[in-house]
Amino acid sequence: MPYSVFVTRHLTPQAEEKLNAFCQAEYWPEDTPPPYDVLLEKTRHADGLLCLLSDPINANLIQQAENLKVISQVAVGVDNIDLEAAAARQIAVGHTPDLLTDATADLAFALILAAARRLGEAIDYARSGHWKTWGLTTLLGESVHGATLGIVGLGRIGSAVARRAKGFDMRILYTDNSEHPELERELGAERVPLAHLLENADIISLHVPLTETTKGLIGAEQFSQMKPTAILVNAARGAVVNTEALVTALKSGQIGYAALDVTDPEPLPPSHPLYQQPNAIVVPHIGSATRTTREQMSLLAVDNLIAGLEGRPLPKAVVQH
Ligand code: GLV
Repeated sequence: MPYSVFVTRHLTPQAEEKLNAFCQAEYWPEDTPPPYDVLLEKTRHADGLLCLLSDPINANLIQQAENLKVISQVAVGVDNIDLEAAAARQIAVGHTPDLLTDATADLAFALILAAARRLGEAIDYARSGHWKTWGLTTLLGESVHGATLGIVGLGRIGSAVARRAKGFDMRILYTDNSEHPELERELGAERVPLAHLLENADIISLHVPLTETTKGLIGAEQFSQMKPTAILVNAARGAVVNTEALVTALKSGQIGYAALDVTDPEPLPPSHPLYQQPNAIVVPHIGSATRTTREQMSLLAVDNLIAGLEGRPLPKAVVQH
């Protein structure tokens, strides 16, 4: 076997079979990430690295990995990888966009509905024996149909959320680095400055990647611009939101609700105040977690890795050789 590869978690059986047929792959056996020193050691002489978004692939690791030709991540977001360090060493970096777009948009929409209709509270209410009768004012939430949705970042996933929103007769406002005239025509979406979106949206859904610019994009000032009934949905990256400011905004009633698939830190420790908030829902970063999507992501990550080892262009590259 000419190539050696370190894989930071087990993949799906089909993806492992494909990878094992091509190279000598070593899999980290635990569900939790390998400790950093193990990651460093295993990568030092490897030709390829197949990793997840919870593995810190920083400049130090990249510089010490003397044979590394390719880093293949099973995710679309690559904020855990130092891309500049990889490019400087001509290491290709692959990711798994597109095929997770719909699954992630579905989950974002599930969070929108769950927050607006207080599903977490309603499930607890029924389970815990509080359901005594049909109550005219029991567990009142907010309408999703006809509401104004503010999409921060109209990329692949943001656009897929917008399409779903159209089916709910929502008015769509968005911010993005570029204009999307076709989507504006198709969905009636309107590009507006962030402050305008925050002031006017009933529901705000975040779909930007985590970068130096988007880190802490939603903080105390932005919460003060939102409606007191506003629902904030984050299925992008936790650090786009300032967590402390979010807790304050939820506690003080400055905003109505938050529904989070991603948090900062991640995982969110069990003692975190966000879990105590009746007006917050937290799920453990499951945006793309459908059986078919994760199978496809694993296979694409293997394809990216093999292409990188062979010196071919990656099917989905963030950094090409
Ligand atoms: C998940 O968060 C991903 O980036 O694919």
